[in-house]
Amino acid sequence: MVDVLLGLQWGDEGKGKIVDYFARNYDIIARFQGGPNAGHTLYVQDKKIVLHQIPSGIFHEGIINLIGNGVVLDPVILRKECDTVATFGVDVRKNLFISERTHLILPTHRALDKAAELSKGDGKIGSTLKGISPAYMDKTGRNGLRVGDLLHKSFISNYIKLRLKHQKLLDNYNFSDDISAWEEEFFDALEFLKTLNIVSGEYFINDALNRGKKVLAEGAQGSMLDIDFGTFPFVTSSSTISAGVCNGLGVAPQKIREVIGISKAYCTRVGSGPFPTELEGETGENLRKTGNEFGATTGRPRRCGWIDLVALQFACMINGVTSIVMTKADVLDAFEELSICIAYNTDGEDENKVPFQMTRNKIIPNYKTFKGWMKDSSVFKYKNELPVEMNEYIDFINRHLGVPVHYISNGPGRDQIINIS
Ligand code: GDP
Ligand code: IMO
Ligand code: MG
Repeated sequence: MVDVLLGLQWGDEGKGKIVDYFARNYDIIARFQGGPNAGHTLYVQDKKIVLHQIPSGIFHEGIINLIGNGVVLDPVILRKECDTVATFGVDVRKNLFISERTHLILPTHRALDKAAELSKGDGKIGSTLKGISPAYMDKTGRNGLRVGDLLHKSFISNYIKLRLKHQKLLDNYNFSDDISAWEEEFFDALEFLKTLNIVSGEYFINDALNRGKKVLAEGAQGSMLDIDFGTFPFVTSSSTISAGVCNGLGVAPQKIREVIGISKAYCTRVGSGPFPTELEGETGENLRKTGNEFGATTGRPRRCGWIDLVALQFACMINGVTSIVMTKADVLDAFEELSICIAYNTDGEDENKVPFQMTRNKIIPNYKTFKGWMKDSSVFKYKNELPVEMNEYIDFINRHLGVPVHYISNGPGRDQIINIS
């Protein structure tokens, strides 16, 4: 069976750490969407590593990691990641597999991303500029090049055709950056990519499932960044929700068992777009400092705010979440008072549904306040150590969402996690 682990907010919920923690229970860890816009942080041998495209099970010997067809892959970034994991003794030729249907991010996709963002001015999305949206546009526009195409001699001529098409678009944007160095790196990286395990991902995973192997599908980004259900247009360009697992890996819906949702004990967002519970003053600054909330991919400061149960309930609904892991609970340790958003107030009315357009009407969060626990929770190891106030905070969330919080993560370290189920 396939279990799914994904973010319930606007990304950076701590998915990487939690996948790494659960990985030992699975045979295969598979990425099903997104690309190097993701930054998943893990600690291995007390060293911090940020993975962008390689699944977060890579440091476990004997576990297979699969980059699924739903991902868009930048070969240059992949090669750098492979070099990084190799310094920890990981042999990617043994435990990393890539679907031949995975679309490639070309240098011109990165250029187009930059040109499109610049042209949007104040309305910019805040993209990571990794070429994600142009690569998915070429996929749905039926132009893109796939990993499997690399192995055929028509690749170069198809590349040149697409590059010419992209050049016309870049000219329209008056974009004149010289990308020849990117192209050189890209072609070098393609030679490296050809030496990796390129497989038919859908047969690979279904054969494994038929042999009774267990798969964990690792989400990137978060549910509120989903192309359909997120805060459009301030979203990413893929299906970040559990439905994305089926078309991003080629597994049937009835194979999916648990859907583990990851949420911070508060909330963050990086990039533009609506964020009803954002705290712009001192409290937000404190959350950013204590939580070290700076983007793992771009280094940008993350916007911080209180946990939002309207958005979380929505995310639980569209994903079919069966249990929650609440991360970064320790970040709230020194807050005397905590707030939980239980409704959106628009035009004097309380609403408990996520609206079609969050930006159309001003949303004032309706908060319920809680007493902070004011204890160093990062040292706790067992459920019975949790302070009363922390239990009250979690119980309220459990009851409100109707989905149980099964684990609390209380620090970035590999073993800083408490089973409270
Ligand atoms: P991802 O994109 O969902 O994998 O999350 P990121 O790696 O982008 O961001 C999560 C950040 O929080 C990383 O720096 C993690 O090391 C850190 N982190 C994860 N869990 C915890 C936790 O429980 N407490 C604290 N203090 N930090 C955590
Ligand atoms: P992980 O997997 C947080 C955000 C960007 C931007 C919007 C579109 O680490 O949680 P894109 O580069 O996809 O065109 O950017 O989505 N974004 C993320 N925010 N975590 C991520 O990934 C993100 N990936 C994209 O900041 O607002
Ligand atoms: Mg991240």
